[in-house]
Amino acid sequence: MSETITVEAFPPGERRFIRVENTEIAIINHDGTYHAFKNWCPHMGAPLGKGYVSTPNDMESDTPKIACPFHSWRFDIESGKSTFSDLKVPTFDIVREGTEIHIQLK
Ligand code: FES
Repeated sequence: MSETITVEAFPPGERRFIRVENTEIAIINHDGTYHAFKNWCPHMGAPLGKGYVSTPNDMESDTPKIACPFHSWRFDIESGKSTFSDLKVPTFDIVREGTEIHIQLK
């Protein structure tokens, strides 16, 4: 069964954190594109959504990365994949409609 949650749109550079049952979800507006993922680092459980988001460059793939605030492991904020291991953060699909953001829970 799937569920959609809706939040109000917010400006680039800002973040929102919402709790759905026992899961906290981080929502980031990076340069006008929204990303949603579990606010949890698979290394030791840090609040990954509070990390620094880097803009893509020529040295890596073309998607932004977020660095964990605890030990700086980096994850692709679109796929949730770690940049150097098989670990992955769960991500959620997002659809924006006007002033609303719809997050598809899996
Ligand atoms: S808890 Fe995230 S890198 Fe260690």
